[in-house]
Amino acid sequence: MRLPPPRLLTRRLVIRTATPADVPALVEFAIGEARESGRWGPIRPAAHFTAAHWRKHVRVLEESRRLGRSVTFWLWTRGRSPRLVGHVGLGNVARGVFQAAHLGYSLRKEFEGRGLMTEALRAIIPYAFDEMRLHRLMANYLPSNRRSARLLRRFRFRIEGRARAYLLIAGKWRDHVQTSLVNPRWSPPPGDPAARAAAGKERRGRR
Ligand SMILES: CC(C)(COP(=O)(O)OP(=O)(O)OC[C@H]1O[C@@H](n2cnc3c(N)ncnc32)[C@H](O)[C@@H]1OP(=O)(O)O)[C@@H](O)C(=O)NCCC(=O)NCCS
Repeated sequence: MRLPPPRLLTRRLVIRTATPADVPALVEFAIGEARESGRWGPIRPAAHFTAAHWRKHVRVLEESRRLGRSVTFWLWTRGRSPRLVGHVGLGNVARGVFQAAHLGYSLRKEFEGRGLMTEALRAIIPYAFDEMRLHRLMANYLPSNRRSARLLRRFRFRIEGRARAYLLIAGKWRDHVQTSLVNPRWSPPPGDPAARAAAGKERRGRR
């Protein structure tokens, strides 16, 4: 399914994919995020904080989006001097009989506690369910990450279990709480005959 690059408007945010003009802001965001989210995030290689990396990575992200593998949204404040305040990623997009993606997010520290991520997800979850036609969003967090837990609870993500030694966070394999949100009004994406057949919507399929 081919979708154009998303651009979502909310009361306080412009939510969109990255362009080459964003590279300086992306470098600043990467540096700030690493400094502020050290407890929750991976240790990045030095190259992650360079313009050269982000010039290439903007192209990689767009190619991945075009191929339907992921969508990375960047959250900008609205107004005359937009600030890059956060990101939301829909990664590991799987189709066929799964129709699912992993959800990840982060905000710059000074923009926490204002409801901005809630506002962003209020636009992004409908995009994932109605435009991308995903059936399940999965989001996992460190048990000590209370802000992340509260954010997901607000959207009625359900806790499904605990994944042992799930991600390398700050250099250590750490358990994560696993949650998911299911799309109650899912229908197969156009141009995905396998999903259509699997959903029993194709008359002449073989069992
Ligand atoms: C996870 C993370 C995005 C949550 O950020 P957040 O600021 O708590 O989430 P929101 O932007 O939705 O803000 C909600 C908070 O703002 C408050 N708030 C203030 N004004 C608000 C408004 N107008 N509307 C809604 N909420 C508002 C809410 O009460 C809530 O606070 P509470 O949880 O203490 O009740 C952020 O902590 C973060 O980036 N952490 C580092 C990276 C990370 O952990 N990523 C996730 C890994 S699993």
